[in-house]
Amino acid sequence: MEQYAISGGNPLVGEVEIGGAKNAALPILAASLMTDETVLIENMPDVRDTNILLGAMEGIGAHVERIDRHTVKMNAALVHDLYMDGDSLRKIRASYYFLGALLGRFKKATVVLPGGCDIGCRAIDQHIKGFKALGASVQISHGMITASAERLVGSHIYLDIASVGATINILMAAALAEGRTILENAAKEPHVVDLANFLNSMGADIKGAGTDVIRIRGVEKLHRTEYTIIPDQIEAGTFLFAAAATRGDVTVKNVIPKHLESISAKLVEIGCQVWESDDAVRVAASGELGHTYVKTLAYPGFPTDMQPQIVVMLGLSGGTSIVTESIFENRFRYVEELIRMGANIKVEGNTAIIDGVSRYTGASINAPDLRAGAALVIAALAAEGSSVVDDIRYIERGYEDFHLKLQKLGAKIEKVQSERELRKFALKTG
Ligand code: EPU
Repeated sequence: MEQYAISGGNPLVGEVEIGGAKNAALPILAASLMTDETVLIENMPDVRDTNILLGAMEGIGAHVERIDRHTVKMNAALVHDLYMDGDSLRKIRASYYFLGALLGRFKKATVVLPGGCDIGCRAIDQHIKGFKALGASVQISHGMITASAERLVGSHIYLDIASVGATINILMAAALAEGRTILENAAKEPHVVDLANFLNSMGADIKGAGTDVIRIRGVEKLHRTEYTIIPDQIEAGTFLFAAAATRGDVTVKNVIPKHLESISAKLVEIGCQVWESDDAVRVAASGELGHTYVKTLAYPGFPTDMQPQIVVMLGLSGGTSIVTESIFENRFRYVEELIRMGANIKVEGNTAIIDGVSRYTGASINAPDLRAGAALVIAALAAEGSSVVDDIRYIERGYEDFHLKLQKLGAKIEKVQSERELRKFALKTG
């Protein structure tokens, strides 16, 4: 089993190139199935989740050609199967994007429902409500969800929760419905806007993405396009917090600084220096950092996908910080591991009370999910001594070349596969 071996205590210093946003790439891949013409996508992150979706798309007859590591050409003219099952697909939430995409184009789809998730129950009632409002019938049986319709007809839909997934699924289905859909209380995340821009580049008529009311005028057909995915706001934020936690100096390049505002604001608030340019953000930290209060919120609030990383950083800052998780109900599981590294954190319900300590100490730890896994890597990089991070397959779902990018910033981190490799790493790093 692959693990990260880490020898901590070095400040991260240098520049890191940020890749395409995983959470934009996933719906954009699914939406590529909505036309029978060829679609070319650039800045596609080469991570496990996108590769699983690409494999599933080939499985139903789409032609997928990798032009280079980050450019994919796809043609879904010969899609012959509207039934998508499979072990790997079952493990990722984004598989439900195939439902909206295929329902839009073929008016029918059956997709495996993702199993239980590590960060919360993650209901899909709002997706179903949206499909039904557009005239589809929806059934769940034997772990599969089927949506089908004679015709999809535009509607006025109010989401009870501004769900990213439901907004995206409804956008896709409504883009090829008859007439006009108004979606209220829509999610405003940058990846929702990116998906809407992608659909518009294929001939859809979507207005208002990025605000909480999105208006979609259904069109008959979508056509070919070439499109570049936005940079990954969460990957960028993860490196910025890693720089602060290790008291380093890191520039994230190829980013949209506006998407990082809630993250930069917290860095400034606790005493880091932050510089922004057109497409880069630099953070430098030294000495004792201060405390702060954080509540995860929908965009433009502080993202839940950065919550574990900020907790790790605040665990090494002076004073008492309070972090409240308001999006998912079970996103503090990693705190147990952090406590084993010397953190002083108490979790009460959906709030973590963090009394900063001056150092963490290395330990053997498990990555419980994607973002918490990345956060524990940050903790290990900042810690005194050596750590081993297990279950890194979770981290690889959403971070491309994580350890290689960290190495370039001076981190002592390696991916190891055996006791022997681990011993070699220990000898090398002293
Ligand atoms: N919710 C419902 N009913 C629904 C849909 C959602 O109750 O029909 C609840 C969820 O249970 C959750 C909250 O609403 O408590 C927010 O869920 P949302 O639908 O917004 O999230 P998602 O679409 O499942 C995406 C990202 C997550 C990210 C969230 C919030 C993808 C593939 N996933 O999930 O990313 O945390 O939005 O921004 O885009 C990650 O990348 O690590 C990750 C978990």
